[in-house]
Amino acid sequence: MGETGVLAGRTALVTGASRGIGRAVAERLARDGARVAVHYGSNEAAAKETVAAIEAAGGNAFAIRAELGVPGDAESLWEAFDQQARGLDILVNNAGMALFATVQDTDEELYDRTQAVNARAPFFIVKHGLRRLRDHGRIINVTAATDSAISRSRAARVEATRSGEPPD
Ligand SMILES: NC(=O)c1ccc[n+]([C@@H]2O[C@H](COP(=O)([O-])OP(=O)(O)OC[C@H]3O[C@@H](n4cnc5c(N)ncnc54)[C@H](OP(=O)(O)O)[C@@H]3O)[C@@H](O)[C@H]2O)c1
Repeated sequence: MGETGVLAGRTALVTGASRGIGRAVAERLARDGARVAVHYGSNEAAAKETVAAIEAAGGNAFAIRAELGVPGDAESLWEAFDQQARGLDILVNNAGMALFATVQDTDEELYDRTQAVNARAPFFIVKHGLRRLRDHGRIINVTAATDSAISRSRAARVEATRSGEPPD
């Protein structure tokens, strides 16, 4: 672990790592030796808990806050990241909205919000993150298929993953 795992010397960023799947991914990457940026949107206490759990297990992590789905979200995230790390090896786009609404229950505001959080934010996180990604870096996009607006926003993420070109 820490300095000896297979990811020793690597830096990872996991969006939405304060809770749920993101937290589990962050803990696993840290257990394998990576230094992990634990991103969160609003739940600072949960993010601190994730960092504390990683450190208690002998790993290395730090929390960064950025609300996704708002203008300039990706730049804000990377600015926060840059204050604590230089360069990146693994990006996990995990943060997302999982709502369960039928077509009839989906209005334009909800549709736009899911697109902004689930599709636009990860796209620009990748765009602005590429220059920080070191050789042999990895980008993992976590997706889902639930209801109409959500699955459309997820389809965009899947398509972005499929068509993504490796960085120079
Ligand atoms: N759970 C499932 O069954 C399931 C199944 C398939 C796919 N997925 C997908 O897997 C991913 C993680 O799911 P989960 O269930 O583990 O999620 P979760 O427990 O609801 O946690 C969501 C995480 O994303 C962050 N987040 C959400 N919206 C954000 C926003 N607008 N700005 C910044 N951060 C935001 C949250 O930050 P805060 O803590 O600060 O709020 C939290 O860390 C999601 O993309 C989800 O759609 C989940």
